[in-house]
Amino acid sequence: MRDMPVLKPRYFVMDTFRAYLISRQDAQVRAAFTDMDRSQLDPGDVVVRIDYASINYKDALAATGKAPIIRRYPCVGGIDAAGTVESSNSPRFKPGDTVIVHSHGFGVSQHGGYAGLTRVPADWVNLVPPGLSALDAITIGVAGYTAGLAVELMEHNGLAPSRGKVVVNGASGGVASIAIDMLAQRGYEVVAATRKTNERDYLLGLGAAEVIDSASLSVGKRPLEAATWQGAVDSLGGQALADLIRTMQRDGVIASLGNAMGIEFTSTVLPFILRGVRLIGVNSDNEPPLRARLWERFATDLKPRHLAKIARVAPFEELPALIEEVAGGRIKGRTVIEMGARR
Ligand SMILES: NC(=O)c1ccc[n+]([C@@H]2O[C@H](COP(=O)([O-])OP(=O)(O)OC[C@H]3O[C@@H](n4cnc5c(N)ncnc54)[C@H](OP(=O)(O)O)[C@@H]3O)[C@@H](O)[C@H]2O)c1
Repeated sequence: MRDMPVLKPRYFVMDTFRAYLISRQDAQVRAAFTDMDRSQLDPGDVVVRIDYASINYKDALAATGKAPIIRRYPCVGGIDAAGTVESSNSPRFKPGDTVIVHSHGFGVSQHGGYAGLTRVPADWVNLVPPGLSALDAITIGVAGYTAGLAVELMEHNGLAPSRGKVVVNGASGGVASIAIDMLAQRGYEVVAATRKTNERDYLLGLGAAEVIDSASLSVGKRPLEAATWQGAVDSLGGQALADLIRTMQRDGVIASLGNAMGIEFTSTVLPFILRGVRLIGVNSDNEPPLRARLWERFATDLKPRHLAKIARVAPFEELPALIEEVAGGRIKGRTVIEMGARR
């Protein structure tokens, strides 16, 4: 009897795939769809068929050339992606595993998530834990990972639901939306500070107790103003961070994780030495043990409750238009790209 042909799942035979490539010529950054093949994959341990990617603020800066994010041109954009392992040289992963890829050089110094296929070092990959789907995982993505790391570090530094209000600025953004959801789920009284006060219902729906105009956080000019917040999650930096420092309660904790407003701020030491204010930095480039522990927490005690409200899911073809929206600060929540256009 003749051998029957073996039918393989589609991703085992995907040799060419669509990608969104960022290139630079004569100091001009441009990004465009292109076709790539396996020979163009970067070195790495794990080959992943990508089902979803997302648009982070950093992705928008990279693809528009508004900030020097990309470390190697040309580079497929996208600093996070979720998908299925096709092959692995690492014992931590096997074909068929659902995984999330993010941080380190992904979409920055090696090809990122806006492609049908990627090959990456094993340390950039995590198993999606039971209880989360690939869509849940990308909705969390590097934004939610950073929010979760901020919550963990803040609680390690004394944050507790009984101690007072926690303010989250840039509230309609990706990191902030998930921070609000996680903090509210853990019993905190969360105040969402936003420029988009028309998004009040969205923010209350994530669990915020109150929504305020972010302009109202800029109170007075003295080194110490009314002690209002026990905690603050700061996506903005710049003057917004300076205003938070002056208005924290005794032993209040600020997680500094972003610079959407600016990178420079001026402060005095008084909030630190008279109120014990704790200013902690949050960097999402972490080693495997911390990453694995946090991803387990995202399926258990840090699990966001409103991922479906936070995610806007769009097809790959809409990526360029959506990047412009994210760059212009016109979006809310997380923008997820469904990579259906592969072959
Ligand atoms: N530390 C890390 O490892 C890490 C990881 C991920 C992200 N980040 C950083 O965290 C920040 C937030 O990232 P994201 O992906 O959540 O971005 P995002 O979705 O674009 O959200 C940023 C939010 O900040 C507010 N905003 C934007 N531009 C502003 C401006 N010029 N002045 C005042 N408010 C402004 C807007 O919220 P409202 O309109 O609601 O006010 C916007 O939705 C970024 O700076 C990003 O680079 C850091």
